Amino acid sequence: MTQQAGLFISFEGIDGAGKSTHIEALVSAFKAQYGAHNVVHTREPGGTALAEKLRQLILNDPMDALTEAYLIFAARRDHLNQVIAPALAQGAVVLCDRFTDATFAYQGGGRGFDLNVLSTLEQWTQQQGGQLLQPQLTLWFDLPAEVAAQRLAGARVPDKFEAQPVEFFRQVALGYQERMHAAPARFVKINAHQSREAVWADVLHAVRSKGFLA
Ligand code: TYD
Repeated sequence: MTQQAGLFISFEGIDGAGKSTHIEALVSAFKAQYGAHNVVHTREPGGTALAEKLRQLILNDPMDALTEAYLIFAARRDHLNQVIAPALAQGAVVLCDRFTDATFAYQGGGRGFDLNVLSTLEQWTQQQGGQLLQPQLTLWFDLPAEVAAQRLAGARVPDKFEAQPVEFFRQVALGYQERMHAAPARFVKINAHQSREAVWADVLHAVRSKGFLA
């Protein structure tokens, strides 16, 4: 894993915040500017054959918090080694639906799991040559937990996380807030409680003002 030559952007938010449509649109915008073969659209947990198998376990099987954290970071390690780091080394744009901030928000904030253990696993997983591989930009789609719950209600069969009560997602949001406070230059908080068009305008503005898109 070497430090990136390309561009690494992650997308975060509680379930129901509506990030998926905007990721799709941004992928199209980046492909139009940089060429389709220079843009990688991926997700966590997942993004490799092994990590997608782990995703099925993580999202569906009951397990204790440390086991869950291990599996998430194991999936992340494989994803970094197989997909993200090689793509960045070639100068590609990597757009990743969730990354380590989700672990601090869901496992740390939502589940109340030990943040020091998560930090250790983060170091083991992402550190290379004294540097921690992180996205250059993280777009956090922020939506009140009650609104997200209403949007999700009846939408589909919920997975282990989607089935959590509203209070869980309030804690997840606080987890994101803490991560943003710790790395303010990396984060842009998007107000997801607006029309889809207004959210998209904010997403575009965030990416353009960093100089990542014309
Ligand atoms: P999500 O990204 O919302 O995908 P989909 O749109 O297909 O539901 O689902 C991933 C779930 O995994 C989500 O509920 C958050 C959870 N998750 C964690 O708990 N920790 C993590 O580190 C990551 C990456 C995801």
